[in-house]
Amino acid sequence: MTSTETSAEHMGTTLSEAQIAVHWREEEYLYPPARFVAQANSADPDIYHRFSEDNFPECFRDYADLLDWDRYWHTTLDSSDPPFWKWFVGGRLNASYNCVDRHMKKTPNKAAIIWVPEPEGQLTEAITYRELYRRVNEMAALLRDFCGLQAGDRVTLHMPMVPELPVVMLACARLGVVHSEVFAGFSGTACGGRIADSGSRVLITMDSYYRDGKLLDHKVKADEALEAAGKEGAQVSKVLVFRRHPGEYRSANPMVEGRDFFVDEVIGRYAGQTVEPVSMPAEAPLFLMYTSGTTGRPKGAQHSTGGYLSYVAGTSKHYLDIHPDDTYWCFADIGWITGHSYIVYGPLALGTTTVVYEGAPAYPDAGRPWRIAERLGVNIFHTAPTTIRMLRKAGPDLPAKYDFRFKLMVTVGEPIEPEVWRWYHQVVGKGDAVVVDTWWMTETGGFLGATLPGVKPMKPGSCGPGALGIYPVIYDEEGKVIDPGSGRAGNICIRNPWPGIMQTIWGQPERFVQTYYAKYNQDRASKDWRDWPFLCGDGAVQALDGYYRILGRIDDVINVSGHRLGTKELESAVLTVPEVAEAAAVPVVDELRGRVVEMYISLKPGVTGPSEVEEKAKAAIETQIGKVARPRNVWVVPDMPKTRSGKIMRRVIASISNFADVGDISTLANPDVVEGIRHQVQSRKLQRNEVPRQLTQKELEEIRSYGTAE
Ligand code: WTA
Repeated sequence: MTSTETSAEHMGTTLSEAQIAVHWREEEYLYPPARFVAQANSADPDIYHRFSEDNFPECFRDYADLLDWDRYWHTTLDSSDPPFWKWFVGGRLNASYNCVDRHMKKTPNKAAIIWVPEPEGQLTEAITYRELYRRVNEMAALLRDFCGLQAGDRVTLHMPMVPELPVVMLACARLGVVHSEVFAGFSGTACGGRIADSGSRVLITMDSYYRDGKLLDHKVKADEALEAAGKEGAQVSKVLVFRRHPGEYRSANPMVEGRDFFVDEVIGRYAGQTVEPVSMPAEAPLFLMYTSGTTGRPKGAQHSTGGYLSYVAGTSKHYLDIHPDDTYWCFADIGWITGHSYIVYGPLALGTTTVVYEGAPAYPDAGRPWRIAERLGVNIFHTAPTTIRMLRKAGPDLPAKYDFRFKLMVTVGEPIEPEVWRWYHQVVGKGDAVVVDTWWMTETGGFLGATLPGVKPMKPGSCGPGALGIYPVIYDEEGKVIDPGSGRAGNICIRNPWPGIMQTIWGQPERFVQTYYAKYNQDRASKDWRDWPFLCGDGAVQALDGYYRILGRIDDVINVSGHRLGTKELESAVLTVPEVAEAAAVPVVDELRGRVVEMYISLKPGVTGPSEVEEKAKAAIETQIGKVARPRNVWVVPDMPKTRSGKIMRRVIASISNFADVGDISTLANPDVVEGIRHQVQSRKLQRNEVPRQLTQKELEEIRSYGTAE
């Protein structure tokens, strides 16, 4: 039985999937304005033919030709060892050269990066391509000569949104060193686990940064990280510490003699030095990006140099419509894949101007993003639904007060509600900007589904058809194709390899095969890529026009403000509290953040003082994962609802937390506990005024099938 059937059954009715889907209103099309089409990088529908299956894989030559190669490749796709695909085999290139040097030669004085500090009184910093070239070279010299790093080594970065972050990434790339940036909002412990997993000997961090008006102490996390990494046997020999205000150290933790070094003190030795970009094979890894899995151990998605860079350059050109003279602002964090692909590598590969903003969206008020856009002349804007919702709530009329005009706007990271979409389009986009809803994930390097903005109309709430050269399919649990227009949901997969796809999970190739391919591969021995559909991990429906509507994750991942949090990771963090016997994390629908986490725990026999344990559980999540994951509530319950085989029924408690019908509980081992938990949780939530609005069918479906994927 599929999880969607299960959920339909648990709606207490006999609704079929088709009937559920019929309740989703089809939204109207909106067409791109002629002015946009006239200047678009691609406006000719024939491009879909060029990227059709008949022309696969050679179609991707188009993307690779956007780069400068030291040696051109001889084989576009080597698929002889599925699912470990190799793109542009025989080719050699350097990512730093492609993002910096070649533009420095043509447009040395153009801004590559414009950095906006959070405090409004601090000055914006424009870094030209020439200056970027200087900084990247000096940093590369430091990494090579001071840290002894060379091609193939891994380095962990735990950096906030400052220009030093892209500089360090590009300096690593210049040497062929594999960078692994951990989102600065993640805790020291989470960072430590990633240091150990990647085998990094160097950590690069910053003493502090601004967020929501406060200067946060960030160096403390480096010390926690090293302690956590040390417990896993990792040896870190050097910690490089940037100072947010060079010369002034703003952390409570002391520097460790012989281990910690201020970059602003050491970099002077490398002033004016240049480092020859190391010519890397196309399939050499460029970076790791860790993401949550359904088990505790994080997965380091390994991305390649040639394939990845080609893919982000190509999609930035066609889908973001980036021209060299645009001012492009992606308001995401470089600590996530969106920032890697569409703040740093894609835009810089195309030689445009990319804006990096340090802080929170509504600081000091919800007009801030629009002031930035007005002041810098931003004409392409890219952000996530969670930010859009927040700005809409805090200042629904503010965009009209500022003089900016976006030609194109992007949404990414979570499904966007048609209502929110329309505000984005009409108010932020002033009815004139094209909206591109881009669906993809850490593992895929770049976009999988989106409307090609100069060619396809927009449809609020749907991401659009497969991206160029991406051939999606929706399968049911048995592997039967679900037809477009049937109204039925299933597991969306990509039938073919593409250049941006991750190469493997760092150090866990078998888990890579297991996680993404095992479900629909029928023959492990097959050498034909057609036998290896890639499981994206999302549920989706496809309309007759070929557009996809993404329903959310099918695995146990909670998407909080566009951050993927693994249920198992959250639960393991709470289980480190000695009093806790069992823990279960569930998603709760939240108007602004999409989903928030709620935790259910049961205590070991004889333990009292639940309120203290609640606090400890929240603190454990904060220190082990990060503030973003902090649960809204921790419910201490006498007993968890379980199946006869002892599995915690997360869908039942998820329904309770969301005030949804708990469905059929007759098969539980202990159905009688449900009513007590419902009363305990819902009465407290009523007191706290935490009743969610009426859930949509789509949300109900997610909640009622939550945790049934295993
Ligand atoms: C979700 C972020 C609906 C999806 C790039 C996916 C989306 C997960 C969209 C990946 C979108 C991303 N519409 N859902 N446009 N974009 N998602 O790895 O569930 O942080 O599987 O990558 O975000 O999150 P990740």
